[in-house]
Amino acid sequence: MSGNKKEFVRVCSVNDIAEGQAKAFHVGNKHIAVYFSEGKYYATDDICSHEHEHLSEGWLEGHVVECPKHGAQFDLKTGDAVSLPATEPIAVYTVKVENGDVLIEE
Ligand code: FES
Repeated sequence: MSGNKKEFVRVCSVNDIAEGQAKAFHVGNKHIAVYFSEGKYYATDDICSHEHEHLSEGWLEGHVVECPKHGAQFDLKTGDAVSLPATEPIAVYTVKVENGDVLIEE
């Protein structure tokens, strides 16, 4: 019944990311960006859906990240592209914090 049961995996410590910052991590074969903004953690694929750019190097405002290359913005809650030039969403991951660690659901 639960052959596709999802599991949480550790990405980093809560101390690895300062408020208003993001960082990239390898989780298995994925490149994940973890963001800490206004007291909340978010996780997405690190690569922009427009071209190959690291969103972890972009600018954060609330639950929106702006790509450093051409300025596309993504909603970190849904992954939706909320401004051009990106039109495709990015993958987002459910995050939980446990015992000082940031975990994402795979
Ligand atoms: S690579 Fe991100 S907006 Fe172009």
